[in-house]
Amino acid sequence: MAYAAFRSIGAYVPEKILTNEELSKMVDTSDEWITKRTGIKERRIAAKDEKTSDMGVEAAKIALQRSGLDAQDIDLVICGTISPDYFCMPSTATVITGKLGMKNATAFDISAACTGFIYSLSVAKAFIESGMNKNVLIIGAEKLSAITDFTDRGTCILFGDGAGAAVISATNNKDEAIIDIHTGADGSYADLLMTPNGGTGSAHDALDKEAAGCYMQMKGNETFKVAVRTLTKDVKEILAVNNIETSSIKHFVPHQANLRIIKAVGEALNLKDEQVVLTVEKYGNTSGASIPMAINDIYESGKLQAGELMLLDAFGGGLTWGSALVPFSPFK
Ligand code: ACO
Repeated sequence: MAYAAFRSIGAYVPEKILTNEELSKMVDTSDEWITKRTGIKERRIAAKDEKTSDMGVEAAKIALQRSGLDAQDIDLVICGTISPDYFCMPSTATVITGKLGMKNATAFDISAACTGFIYSLSVAKAFIESGMNKNVLIIGAEKLSAITDFTDRGTCILFGDGAGAAVISATNNKDEAIIDIHTGADGSYADLLMTPNGGTGSAHDALDKEAAGCYMQMKGNETFKVAVRTLTKDVKEILAVNNIETSSIKHFVPHQANLRIIKAVGEALNLKDEQVVLTVEKYGNTSGASIPMAINDIYESGKLQAGELMLLDAFGGGLTWGSALVPFSPFK
């Protein structure tokens, strides 16, 4: 049986930085409030003509180059995004195959909000283990600024743009393999975090763009509580099922939504500060891109070494959630 190995990582962030100070000139908020309640100091904002696929392509190029594989070696591209280039089609993953000149890949998007990268990883793992695919490129890319209401202080302070990508490959070596992935969803919480307009479930005509205003809306406080509860339960389960102690985790890479959520989960799991990866201060919440961007951060700072065990954990709109036990296994 083939196993799936996490081979390489890459990320891209847009140039433009939007600081808390700048936001406090746009809505009734302050650097002090945002820092205290979220831990976020700044976020990146894509250029007007910069699409989600453009950011995904830049991240993918780096992940491919670091893996040593060629674009033609990739037989599946999955993009986890809630801010796709186009409303219905083509999928952002397909657009990315075109921009990278790929000729041998199947491509599709996954819509699981902030859990998009873990969902994509679980599909890559299953397809590789089934023998269907050998080299899968998974991408988390978001232009959340395009679906953020910059007059709503409850949401606009949280989100940012960016992309991350990883190459997942077949291996016969079990020591290199992704150990386990758990995912879940509960649509009864759908109204906590949604973009209510613009689709066929909208009260407005889906094609009436003016009425549509496809912006994210969130019940932040309730979302916060469910997030802490679900993330903690999820991680405890995946560790128990696999008989792994938290002390064996080198890098806990949570979805970067809010520093207080990450701290609460870290404390509930008795994790040490040096185990917890944090990028929320400089990038805010980039939804499906947040976990690969955070992995890239530790990779580029020299903290992620071959063989080290990562524990990924995410939670997002849907509601969706997921966790994964992933050794970093670059090609030797
Ligand atoms: N600046 C100043 N005051 C604000 C702001 C702001 N930006 N936003 C809200 N407030 C006010 C509120 O109006 C409220 O005032 P009131 O007491 O007079 O009514 C007060 O601050 C407290 O509001 P809460 O909503 O209770 O604040 P909370 O401490 O919960 O923080 C936050 C809000 C940051 C949104 C937090 O709830 C949160 O991070 N929630 C979870 C977000 C998340 O994880 N989302 C899931 C993933 S995202 C995805 O899937 C795409």
